[in-house]
Amino acid sequence: MNTAANTPSAAGGIRIEGLRKVYGKGDNAVEALKDVNMVVAPGEVVGLVGPSGSGKSTLLKCLGAIIEPTSGRMTLGNDLIYDNGWRVPDLRALRRDRIGFIFQAPYLIPFLDVTDNVALLPMLAGVGNATARATALELLTALDVHHRAKAEPSQLSGGEQQRVSIARALANRPPVILADEPTAPLDSERALGVMRILNQMAVQAQTAIIVVTHDEKIIPTFKRIYHIRDGQTIEEAGEGRML
Ligand SMILES: Nc1ncnc2c1ncn2[C@@H]1O[C@H](COP(=O)(O)OP(=O)(O)OP(=O)(O)O)[C@@H](O)[C@H]1O
Ligand SMILES: [Mg+2]
Repeated sequence: MNTAANTPSAAGGIRIEGLRKVYGKGDNAVEALKDVNMVVAPGEVVGLVGPSGSGKSTLLKCLGAIIEPTSGRMTLGNDLIYDNGWRVPDLRALRRDRIGFIFQAPYLIPFLDVTDNVALLPMLAGVGNATARATALELLTALDVHHRAKAEPSQLSGGEQQRVSIARALANRPPVILADEPTAPLDSERALGVMRILNQMAVQAQTAIIVVTHDEKIIPTFKRIYHIRDGQTIEEAGEGRML
């Protein structure tokens, strides 16, 4: 299993061209994305900012193959995954092997302990249980939540749950990570800690990472920021300052 993640074409990088998404039909139609264009290189962490309702989550869901765009093109690595229609045979495998999601709500599995929540995806992808758990513990340590490794998610604070969900998204070393407000429940120090880990991961594993955020604490960390407004994206240089 996990073949897609091991192929050179999945080495990373995101390209979005002329992406459009209309929800609903007729009088109820909402054009959430009109003409979105973005490029994220392997090893890069870019910010995506914009007012509420501007289409940030819609864009991540399209890119993550959770919802289908209306038109446009999306490329991951060397693979054109969407060209006015999906171009991959197995969207579940695409999501599982090539994309790490960090949602605003952690969505941990309540009956698995913290370690197994993080180790589950690598195990499903065929990594041995002991190796998957050892990797999980390394990530939990990096995210400063290893002391809760044996706890169940319901016993954790909101910020701890979020850090576990970040460890889970990194566990498969996916070539693409999509994060929707990942630092919202975290204090300043921990939010910057998460950004440090995402930047390290990007460089070490040549991951392409998009972070949707309103969080003023982490905005200075991006070298490039895309602003989304009226369904269109505008690129801007950021400060790229890791505090
Ligand atoms: N399933 C849906 N059906 C119909 N309209 C939707 C649906 N999901 C989102 N929308 C609409 O699409 C637009 C973009 O929504 P989206 O959730 O992408 O915004 P956002 O930028 O993530 O906002 P926020 O910062 O509040 O999270 C909004 O007008 C929203 O009401
Ligand atoms: Mg949103």
